[in-house]
Amino acid sequence: MEVPFHRSYTTEEDVAGVAETIRSGWLTMGPKTIEFENQFKAQVGAEHAVAVNSGTAALHLGLRVIDLKPGDEVIIPAMTFAATGEVVRYFDAVPVMVDVDRRTHNILPEEIEKHVTAKTRAIIPVHFGGLPADIDEILEIADRHNLKIIEDAAHCFPSFYKGKPVGGFADITAFSFYATKTIAVGEGGMATTDNEEYADLMRILRLHGISKDAWKRYTKEGSWYYEIVLAGFKYNTTDIQASLGLTQLAKAEKVWRMREKIARRYTEAFRNIDQIIMPTVLPDRQTSWHLYVIKLNLEALRIKRDTFIEQLLERGIHTSVHFIPLYRHPYYQKLLSIDYREMPNSEWLFERIISLPIFPGMSKEQIEYVIENVVDIAQKNRR
Ligand SMILES: Cc1ncc(COP(=O)(O)O)c(C=O)c1O
Repeated sequence: MEVPFHRSYTTEEDVAGVAETIRSGWLTMGPKTIEFENQFKAQVGAEHAVAVNSGTAALHLGLRVIDLKPGDEVIIPAMTFAATGEVVRYFDAVPVMVDVDRRTHNILPEEIEKHVTAKTRAIIPVHFGGLPADIDEILEIADRHNLKIIEDAAHCFPSFYKGKPVGGFADITAFSFYATKTIAVGEGGMATTDNEEYADLMRILRLHGISKDAWKRYTKEGSWYYEIVLAGFKYNTTDIQASLGLTQLAKAEKVWRMREKIARRYTEAFRNIDQIIMPTVLPDRQTSWHLYVIKLNLEALRIKRDTFIEQLLERGIHTSVHFIPLYRHPYYQKLLSIDYREMPNSEWLFERIISLPIFPGMSKEQIEYVIENVVDIAQKNRR
């Protein structure tokens, strides 16, 4: 049997929505994008939502509207994807990487505190795999040191913290709708905020710095006349993607239940396997289950993580590693020369983590096949 790491879950409603947009004669940003923004902001409880063409663009605009300057420092977790660090580098600012919690893979508030300097401007907490980070503690630190928070919520729809959806806590929250994400439109993203000034500025910046409703210039209500008020970006989304976003949003809860069911089955099956450490769930927050990351209990195994992954692959099971700690990459080694010993938890995690397939539409047979083989490899290689 072959089990891919991911397969997009699309239905006939998605196809119909996209077909309608194509037939409408309006392909790029337009009424569907506005509708998607309105529905999305309502779901995450934010005042404003600005649709863009990637989560990376949303993070970039977030840092741009807080006016990040060269040499400023931005605190980020070491266990994250390329995007979280690179957006800081767009400004010639410094991504200050800090260690994460071994249980949740999320940024540790006490590590943030230790790394705040006079140059720190912002924190980008990443809600790893969809499990919210310690938002209250992070808000308190930011408040005390006068720092901005741009949440990297790329994994986070729908995620909840103390009963409230992620998307309305920070100065700006950045979501991703990349192909593998819980709302997947191919490429896409959204920045949410309660700050009207930020929202207006992000709207101008996403489309070439053109003042007010640039997308309307080819519509009946629009006008050929426009003014460029800033050097902006080409970060707008399209109505094709927005229509996919709308139909996916409509079934997001059902799709979350499908993911949660897989997670529950995995957890139940691995409960008594002491070579496997399961993902941590916390009572005051709800994960989107974008990822299901197991940690190998290396003390109880004769093989290392890489061999475990190879053996799964030999049996047709595709997995992934989220993430290679950012400071380990050549670019950041050269830039920051971080000593791995400063990151004991990220190093500990990196040796042990494997992301198992968890995608809606995964068959019962595929789920059981993954379980059977993870357990078999763990038992055959028991120390
Ligand atoms: C933690 C994290 N942040 C940011 C991003 C960037 O999102 P996008 O691919 O939509 O630019 C990703 C995407 O994979 C991610 O995993």
